[in-house]
Amino acid sequence: MNVLIIYATFSGSTLTAAQLIEAVLKRKGHAVTLKSANEADPSEMNNYDLVVLGSCTWDFSGLEGQLHSYFVDFAKKLQGKDFSQKKFAVFGLGDKTYTHFCAAVDHLEKIVADVKGQKIKDSLRIDRFYFNQEAETKRLQSWAEKLVSE
Ligand SMILES: Cc1cc2nc3c(=O)[nH]c(=O)nc-3n(C[C@H](O)[C@H](O)[C@H](O)COP(=O)(O)O)c2cc1C
Repeated sequence: MNVLIIYATFSGSTLTAAQLIEAVLKRKGHAVTLKSANEADPSEMNNYDLVVLGSCTWDFSGLEGQLHSYFVDFAKKLQGKDFSQKKFAVFGLGDKTYTHFCAAVDHLEKIVADVKGQKIKDSLRIDRFYFNQEAETKRLQSWAEKLVSE
């Protein structure tokens, strides 16, 4: 399978998570491309069998539960496009001490729904990756394995 992982990070954890997913998929023999959301182009998604979207959750102007701004811009580029033939999966990073835990996942799922994409697995929500790195790494790896288990 040819997989594109599009991620957006502020302090690096989402990139680390994306790299962990990449490593699992590569170990299983799949081709993986990692791309930051500000460098991704909607048309290139056609070159892949599966597109994985991952973002941290942030607070802008005092409003919690926001998606990374790179994905807000990427969503604008996707407006009106139809990816009904495309498979997608979504993961997000957050912190349970915030009111809108991992709201980035909800935003990314809406982006997938807006382009009529096929979400192939339940999305993954990672809590405080930096504090729970060992346990969350295991969850990430197990989720990544299931992405390509069919
Ligand atoms: C200013 C700020 C705002 C945040 N807002 C939220 C939030 O609303 N909901 C949430 O679940 N996590 C929130 N987080 C937690 C981050 O999403 C979490 O630390 C994540 O691992 C950061 O990923 P990154 O290293 O890829 O940027 C916030 C963190 C910061 C520093």
